[in-house]
Amino acid sequence: MNKIAFAVMGVFAAGSAVAAPDWSKIDPVKITLFYPGQSSLEWVMDKAEHSAVPDIVNKGRTCAKCHTGDANEVGDKIVKGGPAGNKKAPIEPKPVAGKAGHIPVELQTAHDGSKIYFRLTWNSPKPAGEKMDKKNDVKATIMFDGGGTVDGANQNGCWATCHDDLRTMKTPKSDEKKKYIKDADLASGKFYDYIQFRSGKGELMIDGYVAEDRVREGGKSLIKAEGKKEGDKWVVTFERDLAGKGKGDHTIAAGKMYNFGVAIHENGANYRYHHVSLGYQFALDEKGKEKNQISVVKQ
Ligand code: HEC
Repeated sequence: MNKIAFAVMGVFAAGSAVAAPDWSKIDPVKITLFYPGQSSLEWVMDKAEHSAVPDIVNKGRTCAKCHTGDANEVGDKIVKGGPAGNKKAPIEPKPVAGKAGHIPVELQTAHDGSKIYFRLTWNSPKPAGEKMDKKNDVKATIMFDGGGTVDGANQNGCWATCHDDLRTMKTPKSDEKKKYIKDADLASGKFYDYIQFRSGKGELMIDGYVAEDRVREGGKSLIKAEGKKEGDKWVVTFERDLAGKGKGDHTIAAGKMYNFGVAIHENGANYRYHHVSLGYQFALDEKGKEKNQISVVKQ
């Protein structure tokens, strides 16, 4: 590089307050998003359906511990409406022919002392079925708690919000019922922060939360949720203040493990017809002992 180009770059770096992380230096964590069908919290905690319940309850086993290796197979089975669980009963009553059972996703994270960044990279599966969301081909969502503030989230990730009585689930209370947490409480942090990228033209990113209901506004900490598609490959990045600034915003601080999960609605999917991750955890500059614990390293 010649001296002039180098000097110009120096000025740029010094002058730009929001220097995005150098993603090429950040090792991706490979996560498998899979199609969950109607496997609600009630389903996964019903011993008759899921023989793992004693291990979950008595030994504190995480979903990730048992399913990191077979999440792809679990999704491929459920999406076809195949027999699942202990009872060998389908947990997808309306299978869509050709829909992908799982999506391999690369997750990268970083922080700079005042902001946290998440980056998701994946290849779009082949479209199948009707486009339910006519505006957004893709939505990518991250939910995280306040560092152990949601019961069970350290084991089950987003399943804490997923119930039989939601719309499109087994026993919907109404067509409007959205995800929620039992005994949610905004004041004490018992809620999920909810950030979402939406691919539709003119569609705005969402900074909301999930408490006694899923709310799509109130947050003020999300700065950007951007995505671009090259060929079949999507790259979506989130940039967020570490500080919790609005309603339903958790503050992210060092020394805590935050429970989180990732969901992608692909090919115009809506509601539960998405692909989800098992429960993961992140902490700033601290690697936990478990494989599903991610250190968000300072850049
Ligand atoms: C101790 C290991 C273990 C843990 C922990 C565990 N599972 Fe399972 N899971 C299994 C086994 C084994 C099956 C197969 C059916 C059975 O024997 O109940 C299964 C089945 C499933 C299925 C149905 C698909 C299939 O292959 O039959 C889903 C969905 C599922 N688990 C989700 C979860 C979620 C979500 C969690 C966390 C709340 C979780 N599991 C925790 C072992 C586990």
